[in-house]
Amino acid sequence: MKSLSRRKLLKLSMMGVAGAFTAEGSLAKALLPTPPETEGPFYPVTPQDDKDFDLTQVQGRDGVAEGKHIIVKGSVLDSQGQPVPHATVEIWQANAKGRYRHPRDPNSAPLDPNFQGWAIVLTDEQGEFRFKTVMPGAYPASETWMRPPHIHFKIAKKGYVELTTQMYFPDEALNETDLLLNDKKPSERLLMIARKRGPSATEALDIYEYAIVLEQKS
Ligand SMILES: [Fe+2]
Repeated sequence: MKSLSRRKLLKLSMMGVAGAFTAEGSLAKALLPTPPETEGPFYPVTPQDDKDFDLTQVQGRDGVAEGKHIIVKGSVLDSQGQPVPHATVEIWQANAKGRYRHPRDPNSAPLDPNFQGWAIVLTDEQGEFRFKTVMPGAYPASETWMRPPHIHFKIAKKGYVELTTQMYFPDEALNETDLLLNDKKPSERLLMIARKRGPSATEALDIYEYAIVLEQKS
């Protein structure tokens, strides 16, 4: 198997996938695939025209989504750390108050008519993608279990195993008690939590970076 260059390794480690390397030492042989997670009960079932990368605005409406606007950007890679271009990256999430636009969401928190809730994009030639969205609210999964803020992901590309997973946010107290996240090994948890980058000269919003590693079909 091809080794990764030091430069590539450094970039990947900055994106949080360094812990995924299966080989020891500075030059690794392969990346572990991103752990799968349940699709959950709120996969979108109501068709909508607007599924573009900007979830903070809905086509035909003047308002913007409530809550803290953020950027989620990331890469889809294969196990050799090579970019996977033209992969389909689908996300769905609760609004800032923790409510899904799903007919069976029992949460009494209000819907936000200006929040798109669901988006589908393709990775570019470098395997990269980007969404503008809101920080999802926490919500009760049961009387004793609050789900931490998270974004559901589904990633597909011919020749790779389709991946359904959930991306979590760093420094969230509810991460410590979430039954799903804590069912994972510590090394897997690291791969499911995005890295925060503060606002930059060119980007006023907080950026969360998330690297996804797909498994090739054999
Ligand atoms: Fe969820």
